[in-house]
Amino acid sequence: MHRRGFLAAGLAAVLASPRALAQMKMDGMSNMDSMPGMDMGGHAGHDMGAMGQGPAALPEGEALRELPLLANEAGQTGLFKARLTAGPATARFVADKDTPILAYNGTSPGPLIEAYEGDRVEITFANRIEGEPSTIHWHGMPVPADQDGNPMDPVAAGADRAYAFELPEGSAGSYWYHPHPHGKTAEQVYRGLAGAFVVKAKADPVPAEYGDTVLMFTDLRLAADGSMPANTMNDVMNGRVGDHVLVNGQKNPRLAVAMGAKRRLRLYNATNARFLRLAFANAAMTVIGSDGGLLEAPVAVDEILLSPAERVELVVAFDKPGAATLTTLDYDRGWMGPGRPADAGLTLLTVDVSDTPAEAMPPLPERLRPIAPLGAPTVSRRLVFTETMAMNATGMEMGFLINGKAFDMQRVDIVAKAGETELWEIVNHADMDHPFHVHGTQFQVIEHERDGKISNPPCLAWKDTVNVARGETVRLITRQERPGPRMYHCHILEHEQLGMMGVVDVKV
Ligand code: C2O
Ligand code: CU
Ligand code: CU
Repeated sequence: MHRRGFLAAGLAAVLASPRALAQMKMDGMSNMDSMPGMDMGGHAGHDMGAMGQGPAALPEGEALRELPLLANEAGQTGLFKARLTAGPATARFVADKDTPILAYNGTSPGPLIEAYEGDRVEITFANRIEGEPSTIHWHGMPVPADQDGNPMDPVAAGADRAYAFELPEGSAGSYWYHPHPHGKTAEQVYRGLAGAFVVKAKADPVPAEYGDTVLMFTDLRLAADGSMPANTMNDVMNGRVGDHVLVNGQKNPRLAVAMGAKRRLRLYNATNARFLRLAFANAAMTVIGSDGGLLEAPVAVDEILLSPAERVELVVAFDKPGAATLTTLDYDRGWMGPGRPADAGLTLLTVDVSDTPAEAMPPLPERLRPIAPLGAPTVSRRLVFTETMAMNATGMEMGFLINGKAFDMQRVDIVAKAGETELWEIVNHADMDHPFHVHGTQFQVIEHERDGKISNPPCLAWKDTVNVARGETVRLITRQERPGPRMYHCHILEHEQLGMMGVVDVKV
């Protein structure tokens, strides 16, 4: 039976039985007390709060908040030293309603970390999350494996640990940090734990007049009583998609600019599972950077697809007075079962462009920096994504697998050699798109293949996350420079939790 037909034919009933729930590989979603309220959660379902109302309305149109900067306590150049505490906090998304969240240093998104290429970073992490292990993973950053917040290195509730690493020359880029504890990543992230880590270049070719603004997208679901509902079965399968896409914690905030101004914007998809296909009305977008920093040359675009965990650096030119809005377009990423969210037509940000012209801005240089191709691979590997759903005598089993296997912390899936260039072929034989991510390095995508048609990216770019659409094969060149175990996984965090993750052990 085709899986979609099967789903439509009343999977809800199957899933609702406690036995089927127990069968699913939800290690760590262990809070069984969050299960009784679970429903298949079409949007109409999971949006219902205790009062039977729809999703809470959030205020829109406040002035865009800049993310608070994490203060550097080092007092000496070349060192960034600070403390990050993860713990419970309260947010006010709607008037008169407190929302219990998780936050870094009391804020969600967490404080913006800004350091420079060549800096040493020493951050003490204090886990004050009640009863749960956590870690800080430095997503995309070239840090040693034992400093990278792997699930194998949990920080117990109440404990502290120091993370330390150097930021190599050439590593300037838009990275981020988030928890990565086994079985709890998805929940800790949607409850509020994620922050941006911008590594700045000592010599930056992008004019300083453009500013430098981080826009971090998160995805909030709020019940009528102001609480964040637990994941439903639908969330587990598709990844949790909320009701409100927020920018730096605000819904559709406003930013004022003068006509003719250019702004440098770093867009982060820090949602668990929301694909963001974005366009700017009344403003011209130019891509200048990807996950791992600047491109070789700017590329003008009309739209961007930012899958979960991806980042893009833009220069946006606001040449027409009036409102320039950043909006979402429809994108079909393969939704299982009912409740496909309405992705199109959300306004994420409104820029008010004044009639008064801006001071003349210097042009964007035609060349940004050289990117050397990683070169010819000496090893090639093939990773095949599948989703399985099967009925057996006791209920239903579901799997999100890589090469037929679910994640096992005790197992090494790939042994690689430090400094060796490899071709990784990521093959999506599943019915959903899966954004592929690997820790510890930046890779170069060389080819996409779908229905026998091969296409190449328009230019070389450093990436740590790439969407692999259903039916697609993505080929990328990668090289790990540092030894130790590294995770690779789908960055729909619920899929990672259900097993779509593996370990590459890099040997010297
Ligand atoms: Cu954001 Cu294992 O990653
Ligand atoms: Cu990562
Ligand atoms: Cu996935």
